[in-house]
Amino acid sequence: GAPVEVNVGELEPGARLTVVWRGKPVWIVRRTDEMLASLEPVSGELRDPDSEKPQQPSYCQNAERSIKPEYLVMVGLCTHLGCLPDYRPDNAQGQLDYPGFFCACHGSAYDIAGRVYKGVPAPLNMTVPPHRYADDNVIVVG
Ligand code: FES
Repeated sequence: GAPVEVNVGELEPGARLTVVWRGKPVWIVRRTDEMLASLEPVSGELRDPDSEKPQQPSYCQNAERSIKPEYLVMVGLCTHLGCLPDYRPDNAQGQLDYPGFFCACHGSAYDIAGRVYKGVPAPLNMTVPPHRYADDNVIVVG
């Protein structure tokens, strides 16, 4: 599939947009400082907090799983059986103590970097696709 260009210049802090790449939903979340601050305290609850499994390009194997901490770029499919998790930017709906994603199919939860919690069906962190910045506001996925 061809690379997909995404302009994130209008994306508000805390908002998410979805594009389709190779037939899959790819999410871009503009993370707030509060969201980024949750990545460290949540790490003890995660199965692969250091992203040691190859679920991201090597340039995204870092604390934020991203090139720029502000922007998460991720394939929006649960690593259990491929359902679409819900975006939970806060804990208002109860299942998560921290911002993240919740898959209602069988109850898998992920943090705001797509790292999977311990004790849920999903085995792996969600996938970060190859991507780069064409300029400050344009991300090229693929
Ligand atoms: Fe998400 Fe099973 S497909 S928990």
